[in-house]
Amino acid sequence: MSRSTSSIRIAQEPLSGSADLVDLYLRAYQPLGDYYYRHRTEVKAYLKWLRHRDPYGSFVAYDGNRLVGFIATDSRWDHGTVGAIHELVVDPEYQGRGLGRALLLHGMAYLRSRGCRVCELWVGEHNERARAIYQALGFQENGRWGKWIQMVRSLEDLPEDTNLEAALSELSRSTPAPSPPPRSSGGEGI
Ligand SMILES: CC(C)(COP(=O)(O)OP(=O)(O)OC[C@H]1O[C@@H](n2cnc3c(N)ncnc32)[C@H](O)[C@@H]1OP(=O)(O)O)[C@@H](O)C(=O)NCCC(=O)NCCS
Repeated sequence: MSRSTSSIRIAQEPLSGSADLVDLYLRAYQPLGDYYYRHRTEVKAYLKWLRHRDPYGSFVAYDGNRLVGFIATDSRWDHGTVGAIHELVVDPEYQGRGLGRALLLHGMAYLRSRGCRVCELWVGEHNERARAIYQALGFQENGRWGKWIQMVRSLEDLPEDTNLEAALSELSRSTPAPSPPPRSSGGEGI
């Protein structure tokens, strides 16, 4: 399945272990300084784990040929009734334009289509930006484990026709975010 607008396209496809995907993950997480795998071999192993959990549960965003974001969900997380969102990543140059929201909508619609009634995720307590996007989309805090917060959302109230096309066209109309400052060389773990 693939949906497209003038520039951004979101495709349902298994996560590869490509260098581009590893780079994207590291680029997006580096400003956070925590909550992520820092070494390429760890990231590759993590992507492989995500792929094996649910090969059909991932959606990858492209701008032309450029990989600009992805979400990894898991419809088999808890006996099929609770789905998980394991990962959500948007290229820093594309953040703040609604792409994270569009990917989340794709992920939630997929989990619901697989029969999941609830979806859950874990987010770092200081990851304000991610917590804000989850809250904006109806997730609520459900518990804590160390520095991690569990958030859950019912999928029963998602409209049947969650409008993915609208989410994408909204995205194509929004103003591009300014480019981030250049990274210093020799960043951690890269
Ligand atoms: C979290 C992340 C995926 C958000 O992606 P994004 O494309 O910037 O998010 P969106 O533009 O779709 O924003 C959606 C909502 O997030 C919130 N949000 C986005 N940017 C924000 C900011 N700078 N400050 C506060 N809230 C923000 C808003 O609630 C926004 O809703 P609105 O558009 O109605 O205002 C992205 O910042 C990222 O890749 N971060 C690094 C990886 C990560 O932390 N992943 C989550 C792991 S649990």
